[in-house]
Amino acid sequence: MLTIIHHPLIEIKMSIMRDEKTKSKEFRESLDEIASLMSFEVFKDLAVHETDEIITTPTGSKLKKKKLDYKIILAPILRAGIGMVDGVRNMIPTARIGHIGMFRDEETLVPHEYYFKLPVVENPLVVVVDPMLATGGSACAAISAIKKRGYKNIRLMCLVGCKQGVDAVEKAHPDVHIYLACLDERLNEKGYIIPGLGDAGDRIFGTK
Ligand code: PRP
Ligand code: URA
Repeated sequence: MLTIIHHPLIEIKMSIMRDEKTKSKEFRESLDEIASLMSFEVFKDLAVHETDEIITTPTGSKLKKKKLDYKIILAPILRAGIGMVDGVRNMIPTARIGHIGMFRDEETLVPHEYYFKLPVVENPLVVVVDPMLATGGSACAAISAIKKRGYKNIRLMCLVGCKQGVDAVEKAHPDVHIYLACLDERLNEKGYIIPGLGDAGDRIFGTK
């Protein structure tokens, strides 16, 4: 299933990120803010339960403290996924963080896994985060790697995607709900999303 999250604040911040003149600092800040805004949709169906802990409001009322039913693991695909972690974690401070090292071969566009570590938690919701869903190869490989370790409840949260990437994930992992901030027109011959925002990792970390 695919959800494209439409929101005027996301649209404005996306146009800052798309601008080639935007420097790394503002690029990172916008990514961080969009990740926070997207969290409202990605986590909107999570169940909440009342604990036995009693809180007292300033008006003297007694209420049961509420907690999320789910344990959340955020799994950024390195490197660029790291840029979305703080934005989501600001909304869910209890989220645990895993890391999936994956890079695309620039010629073949085939992803290569070089690192994998997820927290061991019973029945978590694993949210894979990566700004870019291009061919979908990296996301599919990351999700397969997560499933291979026994995790079942998985969502994918990306900023910019295209039809090819969405189709690839839906075909390989029909159980994984995909969330995007925008669905762009196409991929170019080098595997970049058009109009897109360029190389997300390089722009976040200033490597080019
Ligand atoms: C980028 C991006 C995704 C991947 C998307 O990472 O962050 O992980 O490409 O492309 P795909 O859908 O065609 O697989 P990249 O491999 O450039 O690594 P980096 O984040 O370390 O720069
Ligand atoms: N990875 C990126 O960083 N950007 C793209 O447009 C495609 C893949």
